[in-house]
Amino acid sequence: MIRVVVSGAAGRMGQAVCEAVDGAGDMELAAKADPTLGVELADVLGAADVVVDFTTPDAALPNLRACLGAGVHAVAGTTGFDLEALREAAVSAGAGGNCFVAPNFAIGAVLLMEVSQTIARHMPECEIVELHHDRKLDAPSGTAKRTAELIDAAGGNVHEPIHSIRLPGLVAHQEVIFGGEGQTLSIRHDSIDRRSFMPGVLLAVRKAASLPDRFTVGLEKLL
Ligand SMILES: NC(=O)c1ccc[n+]([C@@H]2O[C@H](COP(=O)([O-])OP(=O)(O)OC[C@H]3O[C@@H](n4cnc5c(N)ncnc54)[C@H](O)[C@@H]3O)[C@@H](O)[C@H]2O)c1
Repeated sequence: MIRVVVSGAAGRMGQAVCEAVDGAGDMELAAKADPTLGVELADVLGAADVVVDFTTPDAALPNLRACLGAGVHAVAGTTGFDLEALREAAVSAGAGGNCFVAPNFAIGAVLLMEVSQTIARHMPECEIVELHHDRKLDAPSGTAKRTAELIDAAGGNVHEPIHSIRLPGLVAHQEVIFGGEGQTLSIRHDSIDRRSFMPGVLLAVRKAASLPDRFTVGLEKLL
């Protein structure tokens, strides 16, 4: 059994992760950490093989540093914090924890990023529109920033700015629109339920201990 501690357990994603871990036959929900539950991550780190963090841009980096310091594997979905600072912390950490980060755990969003790179080689000019619920703290989304990085690396040209729409009723959505001579090509992914992220989160929990590198970004690396 993999002992999982969920950090941000009272949040929208945290609650969905607790439910998914509870329903996984090979995992045990060892503890729920969240200030609104009166439980600090530091108090329950000792119970974890893997910590799953879906918190806030301010909380994620200290939480993940604490995991690395304790030699506990971490799976992070929080967006809007300094990934380079986490990379440095992970590679210089003495203890044995691995750190896996994905800006999007939904398979459809990962496929959108993969397909975007192929399209960009033939139709480089594009714009990204991302749409999320109105309680999201960061903009543009981590998924949009990662998509832009991947498209640029594939030879595309993502026009600035990335367009961020925040409205009640939305969950997590993204469209990439490519434009060429006399034609456009649009690809879109919609997460309409937070359960869309759970197979990816459980996969990362299962693979966290055996990752070849201390710091890994992107669900595509696990597929
Ligand atoms: N990677 C993905 O696939 C994916 C998908 C959806 C959302 N997200 C990201 O996940 C994060 C959480 O989103 P949400 O909608 O669940 O937010 P939310 O506001 O509903 O939940 C965040 C929770 O974190 C808790 N928290 C704050 N500080 C904490 C700390 N120091 N330790 C532990 N818990 C703490 C809060 O009390 C809250 O309950 C956001 O950054 C969001 O962008 C990622």
